[in-house]
Amino acid sequence: MGPRGAAAAASVIATSTRELFAPAHVADDRHFELCEGAVVLRGFALPFERALGLAVREVASAAPFRHMQTPGGYTMSVAMTNCGAYGWVSDTRGYCYSPTDPDTGAPWPEMPSAFAELARGAAAALGFTDFVPDACLVNRYDPGARLTLHQDKDERDFREPIVSVSLGVPAVFLFGGLKRKDRPQRVPLEHGDVVVWGGPARLRYHGVAKLDESRHPFAGNARINLTLRRAR
Ligand code: SIN
Ligand code: FE2
Repeated sequence: MGPRGAAAAASVIATSTRELFAPAHVADDRHFELCEGAVVLRGFALPFERALGLAVREVASAAPFRHMQTPGGYTMSVAMTNCGAYGWVSDTRGYCYSPTDPDTGAPWPEMPSAFAELARGAAAALGFTDFVPDACLVNRYDPGARLTLHQDKDERDFREPIVSVSLGVPAVFLFGGLKRKDRPQRVPLEHGDVVVWGGPARLRYHGVAKLDESRHPFAGNARINLTLRRAR
C-alpha cells in the first residue's frame, strides 16, 4: 500500500488522543496511548472471542505450533504457527516471511475472516483505515515462556501498522523505545486486549516478560497472541 499508508502515518502524527478515539465504536475510556502512534485497546477483541477460539484451533490443527530455532542457535520458548498468505519463520539461517510451512511444504492455513476483520477495526482506531493483513503470527506462551525485546522489521512497508491481540492468561508486554537499550514500559495485557503500533512507533522495540503460571478458560495455562501484519 503506497500513498494511503503514508496518509495514515501522517494522520497518526497529527491526531490528538481525543480525536484518535472519536469514532463511537472505539470510544472507550479504558483505551490509552503508550506513545505517539501506539495504543492499547482494552477488551477490543472480546466481541470476536468465540470466532477467534475456533479459528486458532483450526489453524493449529492444520499447521501445528512448533518451537523455532534462532539464527543464534537457540530454541524459542514461545511456540509459533502462522496463517495467511505469508508466515514468519526463523531458523539457524535467519528470519523471513515464507508462503509455505517449512515443516510440511504446504501453504499456511488461510487467514480466518475474524482475524482480518478484527485487525482492520483495530488499525482503524489509530487512523489506518485500509489495513489488510496478509500474515498472522500465532504465538503460544506456556508458563515460563518469554519473548526478548525485538523490532518487527521483516515486513516490506513500515507505513503499515502492527496489530497484536492478547488471548488467554495475562502477560506483561514490554514496550520499549527505538533503541534496544531504552528502558521498556511494562504493560499488563489481558484476554481481549489489542495493541496497535504504527507511524512514529512502528519500529519500537517490544517483547513479553516471562509468563507466570495461571489459568484462563480460553486456553488453559497458555497465553495466545496474534500478531497481524502486512508482510508484502
Ligand atoms: C510479538 O512481538 O511477536 C508478540 C508480542 C506479544 O506476544 O504480545
Ligand atoms: Fe514483535
